Amino acid sequence: SSSAATPSASSSAAPAPAAVVIPEQIANLNYFEFVFGDILGQGAFSTVQYAKKIHRGVMPSKWKEYAIKVMEKAVIARQNYQPNVDREIAMMNALSHPNITRLIGVCESEKFLYLVLEYAAKGDLHSFITRMGSIELSSARVLASEIINALEAIHSRGIVFGDLKPENVLVHSNGHIKLADFGSARYESEISPGERLEGTAEYMAPEVVKGGQQTRMADLWALGCVIYQMLAGRPPVWSEFVEQKRARDDLFGKIVRFSDTTPAHDKFPASFPEEAKPLLLALLHPDPSQRLGAGGFSQIKSHPFFAGIVFDELHLHAGPKLT
Ligand code: ADE
Repeated sequence: SSSAATPSASSSAAPAPAAVVIPEQIANLNYFEFVFGDILGQGAFSTVQYAKKIHRGVMPSKWKEYAIKVMEKAVIARQNYQPNVDREIAMMNALSHPNITRLIGVCESEKFLYLVLEYAAKGDLHSFITRMGSIELSSARVLASEIINALEAIHSRGIVFGDLKPENVLVHSNGHIKLADFGSARYESEISPGERLEGTAEYMAPEVVKGGQQTRMADLWALGCVIYQMLAGRPPVWSEFVEQKRARDDLFGKIVRFSDTTPAHDKFPASFPEEAKPLLLALLHPDPSQRLGAGGFSQIKSHPFFAGIVFDELHLHAGPKLT
């Protein structure tokens, strides 16, 4: 019932605007301004859809592209999800960073709530890893650096991102990364003891798996998993089970074993780049107080792996080449 998507020609180019829009879905969105297109992503409480908006007063008329997160108000109310939506909006409004998807506006119709987001045309990092098998070290280093810049901005506002994974690392048309989806993010000070944010099992830190406190350090474990996955083509732990509950239990056991009992030399597949291993062992440290970054982001940025990277100037250059 919430779909306004129309089929579009399958190509890697940006989807064409839908020929028909469903009026109810755009009731308050300046009726004829947004034209919805393909579904870009789907969550438990939302659907993210591609949309184009005509810019009037520009000759010739120009379209601007957006990703619109559509949420059904009845679902939000039924699931007591409103505080999460309010929090997501407040957090995104507080963040203005070249490596984070910007929240451009919020609109509503009678039945739906719309978060209008900056559009990242090249899709997510997970698709790149799948397509390419793995990512070349020099590109992975730059991508990792941009993720670090985004995390630093997030943590500096007291926020734990909570769901860092390749699916939430989007690639902009200029090749730079944009971290997306604050649906799991929380203010660190508001996370109760033993509370677990709604993250993805593969990327959960061992202290979180064990029921300890989830802090910003859990995001740095996930950062280690994402860098590992770029280089190896798969995260440090994965499960063959398809049933969610079994996969989760399986993964949790594997995370604890990987963290606490697997010797360092067995933590990587053959042919894993030697140069990246010390960084990953430091980010995937079992003890969050000893994990790289516990003493601040300068610890991560000054790690030898990032020698030559000027973190403050990355956005001034072209993004890494991914083909
Ligand atoms: N999928 C989810 N959010 C997106 C965005 N902002 N741009 C492109 N695809 C997305």
